[in-house]
Amino acid sequence: MSSSSFGAKPAVLRCSRCGTFVDWAEARAQVVCECRPRLELPPVLVREAGDAERVAALELFRRDFGRSGIVAFGQIMDLDAAPAIVAEMNGEIAGALAYRLVDAGLHIVALATDPMWQRSGVGGYLVAEAELLARRLKIPRVIVSMTNDNLPSLYFYQRRGYFVSEWIPNGAAKHAVSASLVGFGGIPIRDEVRLEKALSPQ
Ligand SMILES: CC(C)(COP(=O)(O)OP(=O)(O)OC[C@H]1O[C@@H](n2cnc3c(N)ncnc32)[C@H](O)[C@@H]1OP(=O)(O)O)[C@@H](O)C(=O)NCCC(=O)NCCS
Repeated sequence: MSSSSFGAKPAVLRCSRCGTFVDWAEARAQVVCECRPRLELPPVLVREAGDAERVAALELFRRDFGRSGIVAFGQIMDLDAAPAIVAEMNGEIAGALAYRLVDAGLHIVALATDPMWQRSGVGGYLVAEAELLARRLKIPRVIVSMTNDNLPSLYFYQRRGYFVSEWIPNGAAKHAVSASLVGFGGIPIRDEVRLEKALSPQ
């Protein structure tokens, strides 16, 4: 998943050491061990987005992925039209997931957690809710699209049972308006990467 206007993005990730919010290019990967404390946090409530919540969800997506449409699954997606699931913490919209249903599966088109609430379980609950929805609709798999630079997201999904199903060289860069695209950690954005998870029948 990537934006066709990669420049001029506000902060989208939160530093796990000092808490500062950072933009993609300023963020760095860091190895930590199990010493990381488990925090007691308010409950995460997830639900299908109503009209007012869709506005908050779109704002989150636009901040993370740019304002002129998200490139995912080989095309520029119109998020205004996509159904969304939102997560609420402490009475505010803390994260959102946009999806679409296709024959092959449920496509996660966008996922974003407000930096304030990152590493609080929001992303995990949203993905679990999307999987639950797919199961209810008897859809066999969930598929997500991201760009090659997005190491936090590659890590996040593989930790949750997803595996890389397609790596499409130049799949993201060919849709971009700018020639030099810089993503997480300053890594050039070029490829689209798809990960999927087969859902076992319950
Ligand atoms: C990727 C992204 C959605 C993850 O969202 P998130 O809300 O931080 O995800 P979670 O909180 O569920 O999980 C993140 C980590 O926090 C940990 N965590 C969750 N609750 C916790 C708690 N109470 N105390 C301590 N750690 C906690 C999780 O265990 C997980 O770490 P692990 O995988 O090493 O075990 C978020 O980083 C983001 O918005 N990124 C920018 C946009 C993006 O890349 N979107 C995805 C493109 S498809």
